[in-house]
Amino acid sequence: KKPPARKGSMADVPSKLLNEVKEFEEMFSVSAEKLQEVTKHFITELNQGLSPEGGNIPMIPGWVVECPTGKEKGDFLAIDLGGTNLRVVLVKLGGDRTFDTTQSKYKIPDAMRTTKNPDELFVFIAESLKSFVEEQFPHGVSEPIPLGFTFSFPASQDRINQGILQTWTKGFDIPNIEGHDVVPMLVKEITKRNLPIQVVALINDTTGTLVASSYTDGDTKMGVIFGTGVNGAYYEEVANIPKLKGKLADDIPATAPMAINCEYGSFDNEHKILPRTKYDIAIDEASPRPGQQTFEKMSSGYYLGEILRLAILDVYEKGCILCDQDMTKLNTPYIMDTSFPSRIENDPFENLEDTDEILQNELGINTTVPERKLIRRLCELIGLRAARLSVTGIAAVFEKRGYKSGSVACDGSVFNRYPGFQEHAAQALRDIFGWEHGPASSYPIVLTAAEDGSGAGAAVIAALSKKRLEAGKS
Ligand code: GLC
Repeated sequence: KKPPARKGSMADVPSKLLNEVKEFEEMFSVSAEKLQEVTKHFITELNQGLSPEGGNIPMIPGWVVECPTGKEKGDFLAIDLGGTNLRVVLVKLGGDRTFDTTQSKYKIPDAMRTTKNPDELFVFIAESLKSFVEEQFPHGVSEPIPLGFTFSFPASQDRINQGILQTWTKGFDIPNIEGHDVVPMLVKEITKRNLPIQVVALINDTTGTLVASSYTDGDTKMGVIFGTGVNGAYYEEVANIPKLKGKLADDIPATAPMAINCEYGSFDNEHKILPRTKYDIAIDEASPRPGQQTFEKMSSGYYLGEILRLAILDVYEKGCILCDQDMTKLNTPYIMDTSFPSRIENDPFENLEDTDEILQNELGINTTVPERKLIRRLCELIGLRAARLSVTGIAAVFEKRGYKSGSVACDGSVFNRYPGFQEHAAQALRDIFGWEHGPASSYPIVLTAAEDGSGAGAAVIAALSKKRLEAGKS
């Protein structure tokens, strides 16, 4: 049996390296006071985003103007284009707050993130849909299946079955799609292949998470993704969204709840409050969209491995670690995905043997025990900072809405798989609100694992939209 991990044990690390560790600790730690300041500034930016003038945070109305009743029923398709995979899901809504799903996952080829040919992405989606539908409905279908398209990027909408991409995020950079509606691009490829599918809604993964969890749990206040990207959605009263004035259909009352996809990954693009390190600045400058997604670049899964890589290289360049090692792989941007810091943090051995193996096999470097301890401490610090910073978005929405308690439906690879993340996130909320110390489940705001938002959520939204479309409403 493996011995328990001795987190952060720095015994036998020489003082030269300990000094480096100390510097990192200062650089990456975020105090309770700082978190409170960040939250306060966050509220200001959320409000600016709802105003007609707008601000950093897009605050995109989701056009879901009904909360699900739980009675929605039937077969629906959902596709989920997140950051790393494409998922195709068949959802059978039971009409009694229950559902069944069947799904297939297709890895998005790395080169497709930055392909020069915009059609390639939609051909890939339509081909995946085709093989899924042929498999699930070998005898065909009697009428087209409604589809909800989870497109997890900032897309603005004048109606629910539209999505004009504002800007790519999470390292995507495909020309001629920004500024355009992606729904016709998908429909074109579906039609070419004669697939029995009607695209009825485009949604964000956060909105899907919010709606899916509201379908099963009426106390859900937010849907939040901690994954390749970081973002949240909540219900705002139509009357509190000044930028919608004059744009709403007549049948929508001022008290109607509208799902808002905040797109708060772009919080603090003006660099007023977040404690950015030189690594955060370097990542931003080298990214396809410098100056954008400041908050996301410090806290989401797409960037954690890259922060780690830059920090390791920095100590190496000072001549403190990895002398005489072949640095070819470590010099490759984005070579470490989030599974690296996550697996290193999970290493249960005192001398970090698992880490040794990972670094040797995957990066071609040999390390000493003290070097690995420094790297492991770095992973802890980077993950802890991400968890602490990323809940300020939640705290800000709760404060702004005046919610004293409630559940937050959470999804994404970092929330589900990063060691210690959920506990760190809960403790950061405690720091912000000053609750008594206790187990995470005892706090007024509880972070819960969401229902499958981009699958079931997309299906529920498709059901709500289909009803509206059939009634002749947009
Ligand atoms: C990025 C996207 C956003 C999405 C989030 C989580 O922030 O811009 O739309 O919700 O990632 O996937």
